[in-house]
Amino acid sequence: MSRSTAAAEQVDFRTLRDRAAHVERIQFGAGAQIVCDNLVKIYKIAELEVVALQGLDLVVQQGEFIAIVGASGSGKSTLLSILGGLDVPSAGRAVVAGFDLLNMDAKERTRYRRQVIGFVWQQTARNLLPYLTAMENVELPMILEGQPRDLRRARALELLELVGLAQRADHRPDRLSGGEQQRVAIAVALANSPSVLLADEPTGELDTRTSTEVFGVLRSVAEDLNVTVVVVTHDPLVSGQVNRTVAIRDGRTSSETLRRTELNVEGEHQVIAEEFAVLDRAGRLQLPREYVTALELERRVRLDLESDHISVWPDRERDGDEEPR
Ligand SMILES: Nc1ncnc2c1ncn2[C@@H]1O[C@H](COP(=O)(O)OP(=O)(O)OP(=O)(O)O)[C@@H](O)[C@H]1O
Ligand SMILES: [Mg+2]
Repeated sequence: MSRSTAAAEQVDFRTLRDRAAHVERIQFGAGAQIVCDNLVKIYKIAELEVVALQGLDLVVQQGEFIAIVGASGSGKSTLLSILGGLDVPSAGRAVVAGFDLLNMDAKERTRYRRQVIGFVWQQTARNLLPYLTAMENVELPMILEGQPRDLRRARALELLELVGLAQRADHRPDRLSGGEQQRVAIAVALANSPSVLLADEPTGELDTRTSTEVFGVLRSVAEDLNVTVVVVTHDPLVSGQVNRTVAIRDGRTSSETLRRTELNVEGEHQVIAEEFAVLDRAGRLQLPREYVTALELERRVRLDLESDHISVWPDRERDGDEEPR
């Protein structure tokens, strides 16, 4: 195991400091569509405080399609309702499409919800009005924005075509399948051309085949319309569709799985998925639970800097060294 003293002596600290100062000047997440920096959300019920998000960092670029996964209660819906402007963070920074979500007045918040964000809920019934046809449901958000009739019609038809349901334009929700209702809901969410589409468990009530169709539509929304799509899901099917899966644990982003397509030696497209631990700006990272368990890591670990990686050691060996003689 190498000791880093010799290497440290050779380091030019002035160069390192200059480099660090430059990095500080470029703001975290600059140019991204969604930036959450050390985001905290505390719910207070009477005397009880629940910390739903505890210093969450997340950066999403425009046109990305990402999935948020995590155990029940990890903070996924909390994050989505903050991004959707439905809930206000307690501390930290959250900026979406240039809107600062911690410092918006009521008027800005309404404009943000109507023009910047589209939302799709898990419950099909929550997304659509039952007494309006698919077409009328898609037109409704545009009526609220005062769009003229012709423009509304044309846009609604275009969106129903995008989700593959132009032929169902005159159907009411009760004459559409669950998957079709969710696809209409996506069209409704896109009516006012939002920059960001948020979906909380959109396939939670659907079967496998129908879920795949809904994820396919979400993917084309990101790819063809350059809309940023963030979907919260328990559905393992989503992994094949998104660019990136972000796992949340205890109110923090803990790992990210990136997916890219490469040509293999036979010239076929092959999907490569690679999981990364998330390193926050303070240098903290969360070790996967199974790694911690496998080595019975507890309380503290020893770190060794190698030339191209860092080793993490259980404290036991050192404990042994320090045993009184
Ligand atoms: N309005 C609220 N008031 C009080 N506590 C809340 C509220 N909303 C969420 N919480 C709490 O915050 C934590 C995170 O909840 P959240 O709904 O974000 O989890 P989730 O990851 O979406 O879970 P699930 O997969 O079950 O939907 C939980 O402990 C929850 O009980
Ligand atoms: Mg939830």
